[in-house]
Amino acid sequence: MRNPTIILSLKGLKKHYPIMGGVLRRQVNSVKALDGINIDIYRGECLGLVGESGCGKTTTGKTIIGLEDATHGNIQYFSNGGNENKPPVDISGMGRRGLKKSGIRAKLQMVFQDPTTSLDPRMLIKNIIAEPILALQRIGSRDLETRVLELLNLVGLTKDHYLRYPHEFSGGQRQRIAVARAIATNPEFLVLDEPTSALDVSVQAQILNLLKQLQQKLHLTYLFITHHLLVVKYISSRLAVMYLGKVVETAPTGELFRHPLHPYTHALLSGIPVPDVAHSRRRIVLSGDVPSPLNPPQACRFHTRCPFVIDVCRKIEPPIEEAVRGHKVACHRQSEVAKLVKEKFGQRAL
Ligand SMILES: Nc1ncnc2c1ncn2[C@@H]1O[C@H](COP(=O)(O)OP(=O)(O)OP(=O)(O)O)[C@@H](O)[C@H]1O
Ligand code: SF4
Ligand SMILES: [Mg+2]
Repeated sequence: MRNPTIILSLKGLKKHYPIMGGVLRRQVNSVKALDGINIDIYRGECLGLVGESGCGKTTTGKTIIGLEDATHGNIQYFSNGGNENKPPVDISGMGRRGLKKSGIRAKLQMVFQDPTTSLDPRMLIKNIIAEPILALQRIGSRDLETRVLELLNLVGLTKDHYLRYPHEFSGGQRQRIAVARAIATNPEFLVLDEPTSALDVSVQAQILNLLKQLQQKLHLTYLFITHHLLVVKYISSRLAVMYLGKVVETAPTGELFRHPLHPYTHALLSGIPVPDVAHSRRRIVLSGDVPSPLNPPQACRFHTRCPFVIDVCRKIEPPIEEAVRGHKVACHRQSEVAKLVKEKFGQRAL
């Protein structure tokens, strides 16, 4: 029996970008941007996806919504709308045309980091927002105008903004327009790829609050991608930590911050500034750079940087498994890590 609350289930998902070389331009290697992702996304949640630059966060989002084709594995989409007897659809091999034709593309949308580049500067706002609606259905001009105005209103803009161009808006307003465009087709699921990191700090909170309100009002499910751990702490109910094309830990947000199990998660969390000096903690500085996704380390990918590496880590890949209810981790030493961190780094509770 499947869990009826799952909206998307990623199983063994891989995305390898081919590297061509030589006189004949043959494939000589590949960038293993995603190399076997297993994760369930639950209906109505905001799942935060964190990890260092280049670990595969954006590729995960793009592959889910069909902007990139998966190399291997599948993405099951439970579009049942509450009907448990309706089986999931494997959307991983459908391609852009297949997703569009089946109507699924409209249900899965994405908001990108930089609204300056994601909005066409030559188009009026009304056309930017209308475009995805028109791609989906035939609609009369009066109904279209009503719908676009309704969307502007939902994101906190007004009729005054309808006949303007993107350059006439601030960064925060442009991101509101990008959100209006993303929700125009009544999606169920949104990938939010660093939606506030290109904005002034003063407007970041406004956009986060808007996203929170819209999630509730429109019953949306989010995959929220960011480098910023305090942002995901605020907005996400659950977190997934990625390292070099793999998900290494998933847990409810509070649980992950209080009881991280993976050494990499400990290192990430130790980098968050703490205002209270009495509770300051030592930063866990990892040795070496992130290895190249062209030739990632065998077995546990983190073994070249892990302070607690032992022999087995270099030989056998740790599967991601449930350690405590709702908390999964991929580490051979997960039961000892908290103790090891404390011994080595004197880390206080987070
Ligand atoms: N079109 C592409 N062709 C080749 N390699 C790519 C392509 N897109 C991404 N990559 C590579 O795949 C890996 C994952 O990239 P991705 O953009 O998903 O990382 P990210 O976690 O989103 O990073 P950031 O935090 O910097 O946005 C990186 O090594 C990147 O260089
Ligand atoms: S499996 Fe080994 S190398 Fe990998 S994170 Fe755990 S302890 Fe470190
Ligand atoms: Mg990215």
